[in-house]
Amino acid sequence: MRSRMLRREGIQLFRRRAARRQIIHEFNRSLILISDPEALQASIATRIRELFGPDIIIIFQLDRERGVFSPTYSVGIERSALADVRFHQRGRLARWLLVNESCLVIERARQVYEFLSSPERDWLGRLNTSVCVPLISLNRLTGIILLGSRGGHWEVTDGDLELLELLAHQAGLAFENAALYQQQRDRLRRLHRAERLAAAGQLAAGVAHEIRNPLTAIRSTIQYILHRFPREDPNRELVIELLGEVDRIDRTVNGLLSLTRSRRFEPVETDVIGVIEQSLLLVEAQARRQAVTIDRHYERDHLVVMGDAHQLKQVFLNLMLNALQAMPDGGRLTISVSTRHPEYPLRGDRWTKIEIADTGPGIPPENLDRIFDPFFTTKRDGTGLGLSICHSIVHQHEGEIEVRSQPGQGTTAVVRLPLV
Ligand SMILES: Nc1ncnc2c1ncn2[C@@H]1O[C@H](COP(=O)(O)OP(=O)(O)OP(=O)(O)O)[C@@H](O)[C@H]1O
Ligand SMILES: [Mg+2]
Repeated sequence: MRSRMLRREGIQLFRRRAARRQIIHEFNRSLILISDPEALQASIATRIRELFGPDIIIIFQLDRERGVFSPTYSVGIERSALADVRFHQRGRLARWLLVNESCLVIERARQVYEFLSSPERDWLGRLNTSVCVPLISLNRLTGIILLGSRGGHWEVTDGDLELLELLAHQAGLAFENAALYQQQRDRLRRLHRAERLAAAGQLAAGVAHEIRNPLTAIRSTIQYILHRFPREDPNRELVIELLGEVDRIDRTVNGLLSLTRSRRFEPVETDVIGVIEQSLLLVEAQARRQAVTIDRHYERDHLVVMGDAHQLKQVFLNLMLNALQAMPDGGRLTISVSTRHPEYPLRGDRWTKIEIADTGPGIPPENLDRIFDPFFTTKRDGTGLGLSICHSIVHQHEGEIEVRSQPGQGTTAVVRLPLV
C-alpha cells in the first residue's frame, strides 16, 4: 500500500520535473536567437507572466557608466511611475541579490526587507513588489526583475520560485549575449566607418591639392576684375557674390585637407579641460546671441591626454557649433567631462569622456548613420565635413567619437580619449 503511494508520488515528481525541463528548454529556445534587447525584454516578460501570473513586471538593467539599475521595460505600470526609480549597484538590494543568487520574496524575508535602505523599501512598496529576481551573468548582477500585483494578491509557491530562479539564470545569460552582440555590431560599424573615411580622405587629399592652385589664380583674377568696375556698377554685386562662392570652395578644400593626415601628428601632454574652455570662449558670444545657456559639469579641474591641442580644439569647436546651429531659438548647451568607459570598467579611470549635449530637435534615425560621411549635410551653408574631421582627429588620438540622438530630445556628441 505504502510502496504504491511512494511510487505514485515518484511518478508525479518525475512528471513535474519533465514538464519543468520542457518549459526551460522552450524558454531558452525562444531567447537564444533574440539579439535586440527590447525584444528580449518583451519576450522574457511575456513568458514570466504566462508561467507565474504577476500583473506587474519591471525589468531593471545596469547602467554601467552610472552604476545604477534603472527600469528599461515594464508591464502593468505607467512609465511615469518609474521616472526616477533607481537601485544603486552598491546598494543593499543589489548586494543581497548578488551574494544570495536567489529571489527575494518580501513576505517571507521580512528581516532582509528591514535591512534594505529606506529609499529601496520605499520604491519596492510603491511599485507593489512581492518578489525581486536577480539576473546574474559571470558572477555579476546585470539586472533585476520586480514582480508584483496591484491588489497585492499575487504570490509564488516554492515550486514556482525554483523555476523562476532557473529561468532568471537563463535570462541573465540571454541579456549578456544580446549585449555582446550589440557591442560587436557597434565595433564593426565603427570600423567600417573608419575605413570609409580613410578612403574618402585619401581621395580628397589628391583632389584638394589639384583644386587649390587654380583656385588661388581664380580668386586673384576675380579681385582684379572687381577693381575694374566703378563703385556704382550693378554688376559689381555679381562679382562680389562670385568671391563669396570661391571662399566657400576654399573652405571645403581646407576641410578636405584636414581630413587627411598630411600634417605630422606630434602629441604632447595636453589638458582637455583647458582646450574645452578655449573652444567655449570662441562660441560664447554666439551662444549669448541665440539665448543658449552653457552648463559645465567637470569631474576634475584638469585631465591630461596625449594630443594636439590645436586639433582637439577643432573637434570641440565643430561639435559646439553643430550644437548651437541646432538651437537657433535658444536652449541649453551642456558640456560634461568625466572619467569612465563602459566597455572597460576596470580601466575606466584611464579614459576621459567629454559630452557635448544640446536641446535641439535631434537627428532623424535615418540620418544618424550618415552624419559622419564626408559631405553629408542638411544645412544650406554646411560643408558636411565637420563630423568627418572630428572623427579623423579623434581616431588619430586613439579615441572614439559617437553621436547619440533621439528626435525631439536633443543630441549628445560623446568623445572618449585615453588619459596619460
Ligand atoms: N547637434 C546636432 N543636432 C542636429 N543635427 C546635427 C547635430 N550635429 C550634426 N547634425 C547633423 O549632421 C550633419 C553633418 O554634420 P557636420 O558637422 O559633419 O556638417 P555640417 O554641420 O552640416 O557642416 P559644417 O560642419 O561644415 O558646418 C548636419 O548637417 C546635421 O544634419
Ligand atoms: Mg558642423
